[in-house]
Amino acid sequence: MTQRPRRLRKNPIIREMIAETRLSKDMFIYPYFIVPGKKEKQGINAMPGINHFSVDELLKDAEKGLKLGVNKVLLFGVGEEKTKDASSSFSNNSVVVKAIKELKKNFGEDIYVITDVCVCAYTDHGHCGLLTPLSQRRGAGGEAYVHNDSSVEVLAKMAHAHALAGADMVAPSDMMDGRVGAIRNLLDSKGFENTAIMSYAIKFSSSYYGPFREAADSAPQKGDRKSYQMDFRNGREALKEAMLDEQEGADILMVKPALAYMDVISNLRANTLLPVACYNVSGEYSMVKAAAQKGWIDEQKIVMENMHAFSRAGADIIISYHTRDILEKKWL
Ligand code: PBG
Ligand code: ZN
Repeated sequence: MTQRPRRLRKNPIIREMIAETRLSKDMFIYPYFIVPGKKEKQGINAMPGINHFSVDELLKDAEKGLKLGVNKVLLFGVGEEKTKDASSSFSNNSVVVKAIKELKKNFGEDIYVITDVCVCAYTDHGHCGLLTPLSQRRGAGGEAYVHNDSSVEVLAKMAHAHALAGADMVAPSDMMDGRVGAIRNLLDSKGFENTAIMSYAIKFSSSYYGPFREAADSAPQKGDRKSYQMDFRNGREALKEAMLDEQEGADILMVKPALAYMDVISNLRANTLLPVACYNVSGEYSMVKAAAQKGWIDEQKIVMENMHAFSRAGADIIISYHTRDILEKKWL
């Protein structure tokens, strides 16, 4: 006689007991966009609820966030001078450097400061690395060739400037080859053995970054990022990229975007012993916000379904613009 299986989920108490996925506030990282100046708190059009903050306003907002448990932040610098060599990216006076110092001065060990390391907001052409003189000679319309090794040097200097200011962790998002190793070596040689690296290991060339590029004013002027970011048709190659970053010394591996790449998160989780992060990016956020504003979806329910899905797929860490809402509105 075959046994009829019991549907344990019929009982609400047992349903809670057998839940395979549980979220905690400790999993979330909240991104911030930092601009020069004072008393700046400017909303970002395509990302309702997300602002550009000057450092003084950042401190006020971070203090409120800390009370809610938002204690891991990811900083992006916006509005700095844009040059061919991205020199403002590794300046010891950048807004990001100021933000790190002030956050650490005010909140010390209570806040964990992570910085995005990439030059697209600091180059006059908006690419994530320096362009080769060769590609410039090709003129308008030619594919933009990013020169890998000179870009890696700049990225390492940028990471070092952030570490020097007190960043706990740096997060290279550029996708140049060998940058994790180069950053690790430079940090170690300067005495920052304890500064961790979260690698944007698997970053796809994605249209989901659209709202962010408005927020960070970092869209490439010509061409796209397909020569350095991942092709979204490829899952095996994605894993290969992540394995390289692991060998180079990454402490956390990230998949980005998240929603359309659940298979990649899950595959990575099965193939590494490192913590896996996913970045629930700007376009994913904006789509939810827009539909919610129209009353087409239930924002809380959709957001929490997405967050559980990231966790179920294997993400230990979730970087999301929804973090503040989740903790403030007690959705957990
Ligand atoms: C910069 C960077 C991007 C994002 C994080 N760092 C944009 C890009 O590569 O075009 C995307 C974040 C988001 O969309 O929320 N390299
Ligand atoms: Zn970039």
